[in-house]
Amino acid sequence: MNSAATGRVAAIIPAAGSGIRLGADIPKAFIELAGISLLTRSALAMSVVADVIVVAAPTNELKQASDLLADVDAEVHVVAGGEQRQDSIANALKVLPEDVSIVLVHDAARPLIPVEVSQRVVSQLRAGAQAVIPVLEIADTIKKVDSANKVISTVDRNELRRVQTPQGFTRAAIDQAYANPEIVATDDAGLMEVLGIEVVTVIGDERAMKITTAHDLQIATALIGVTND
Ligand code: CTP
Ligand code: MG
Repeated sequence: MNSAATGRVAAIIPAAGSGIRLGADIPKAFIELAGISLLTRSALAMSVVADVIVVAAPTNELKQASDLLADVDAEVHVVAGGEQRQDSIANALKVLPEDVSIVLVHDAARPLIPVEVSQRVVSQLRAGAQAVIPVLEIADTIKKVDSANKVISTVDRNELRRVQTPQGFTRAAIDQAYANPEIVATDDAGLMEVLGIEVVTVIGDERAMKITTAHDLQIATALIGVTND
């Protein structure tokens, strides 16, 4: 296996969710923002830094996912997703070419990711980090509450970060994390924490917001207008 300093970069795009909270009648990754699907936008963004792109698509929509990736300048693979996001990523890892040494995991649901964020993640990995995540500070005051919703205390928000994607890993670190399917976490960096692998942070970007609800879709649409994308 090539070292992270030199090997090829792959981006895994989990896109197999159904988007229940968005409430559309098609999978969320196929929803369009100004005429271009979330999946296409995310893949085009990843293709700037990645040589290989593996998309985990809804099982019955592999052809449609492939069609949406026709203009992406990378070695593109499409695999069937799994029941949970982590299962979708596990399926994608199985088809990664041998010479890939850096693996980014980027949600299809974050279509407006600026390339600078991905570049920050890759450069930390090239420089020797094993796991890298983009994060943002928190502006609101954060309170801890009890089961009756009464305030217990104010949490020190200076110690807290909001986590985005792409999260980046050396091939060795992500292979190790997915070798044991019993380790479960809400994000891939969470798997690293379980394994005791140090996770480095870089600065994220508000435009890397995740589209979860119809309100988020409205915000993303407005962002495109502002940035004249
Ligand atoms: N995802 C996936 N496989 C799953 C579940 C989610 O590949 N079994 C992907 C989604 O397509 C999305 C990313 O993981 O790009 C983040 O998940 P989320 O925003 O929760 O998307 P959905 O699961 O589609 O949305 P919801 O939870 O509202 O149904
Ligand atoms: Mg989900």
